[in-house]
Amino acid sequence: MTTTPKSEKDRVFIFDTTLRDGEQCPGATMTFEEKLEIAEMLDDMGVDIIEAGFPISSEGDFEAVHEIAKRSKKAVIAGLGRVNPKDIDRCAEAVKPAGDRARVHMVIATSPLHMRVKLNMTPEQVIDASVAGVTRARNMVSNVEWSAEDATRSDIDFLCRITEAVIKAGATTVNLPDTVGYTTPEEYTRMFRTIRERVPNSDQAIFSVHCHNDLGMAVANTLAGLDGGARQIECTINGIGERAGNAALEEVVMAINVRNDKFPYWNNIDPTTLTRASKVVSAATSFPVQYNKAIVGRNAFAHESGIHQDGVLKDASTYEIMTPASVGLKHSSIVLGKHSGRHAFVHRLEELGYKLGKNQIEDAFIRMKALADRKKDIYDEDIEALVDQEIIQAHD
Ligand code: KIV
Ligand code: ZN
Repeated sequence: MTTTPKSEKDRVFIFDTTLRDGEQCPGATMTFEEKLEIAEMLDDMGVDIIEAGFPISSEGDFEAVHEIAKRSKKAVIAGLGRVNPKDIDRCAEAVKPAGDRARVHMVIATSPLHMRVKLNMTPEQVIDASVAGVTRARNMVSNVEWSAEDATRSDIDFLCRITEAVIKAGATTVNLPDTVGYTTPEEYTRMFRTIRERVPNSDQAIFSVHCHNDLGMAVANTLAGLDGGARQIECTINGIGERAGNAALEEVVMAINVRNDKFPYWNNIDPTTLTRASKVVSAATSFPVQYNKAIVGRNAFAHESGIHQDGVLKDASTYEIMTPASVGLKHSSIVLGKHSGRHAFVHRLEELGYKLGKNQIEDAFIRMKALADRKKDIYDEDIEALVDQEIIQAHD
């Protein structure tokens, strides 16, 4: 098999913020031990940058970021703060044990609404504070990310000016978030393209996407940002995060893998770790994963209707665009219910070790359908009961 060499220009860095933006969603608080376990897992999965927390927000967050920075093996460890000196110093101290893999990430809002209502600052003051923040952080670490909160509702000329200024001050990554999940794919691509074209020093920083899911477009917008030239993706396991959540890591990674013809990028994530990662994060946060969630939901590889089951049993690619194994799932499941056909029923009988005659199968199938009308799901015990009844009747 020949493999195409991977070009550095198509490399996408995966920045996981499950432990920061993910933990910010109501009810998803994790314990210190859970955070360490998740950070270790993310590191092993091939995540490039782990945002481990918001060090100034609490003593517990500081300790978690600090310990994760100590224990990390490969990933860059980032902490988040605002652009003020106290936040930056605390953040730099927390990530310090990661050595040359330590990143300070700072954020300030750039939209007219946020600057006026929330910050009570003029655009010039926001530029000055950002430049001062980046300069300060660069005196402590070589890896500095600056984020323009609410970038997608910001004035494009202002975004260009502030981006140029923070890169000049030493920002190595510039993140332009869709903080409120407002943008559209086409708009997000254009924003990155325009800024990269108009900012003279734009090639000195990596541009980053960070999308929220308020209109259900976080993953589509994330991928669109890559088309505009961004090369860092900020995302979370299971898409947990503020309000409707963030772009889901597993969805972004598999969209790139499955539709590499459309998204010709590569990253370091081992996709066979995705199913386990989803379970670990769901257990730690007590956040259930919705049944129909793409990639990792209980139904993502389950087939109930007769037409689909028949197709999958003949050749799984009829209704599966990726194999369960490619995301670390042992096998897809054929769920028996009122929409199921004979083919799937016989298949399940064989799997359970039954060899019935044609008439017995027909009888048991009719009774399975009747049962499915009353009871939503048919379990193996139900089938066993149906078949045992069938066998008893045949002996009478
Ligand atoms: O959504 C957002 O704008 C953020 C920033 C802190 C990056 O989470
Ligand atoms: Zn966010």
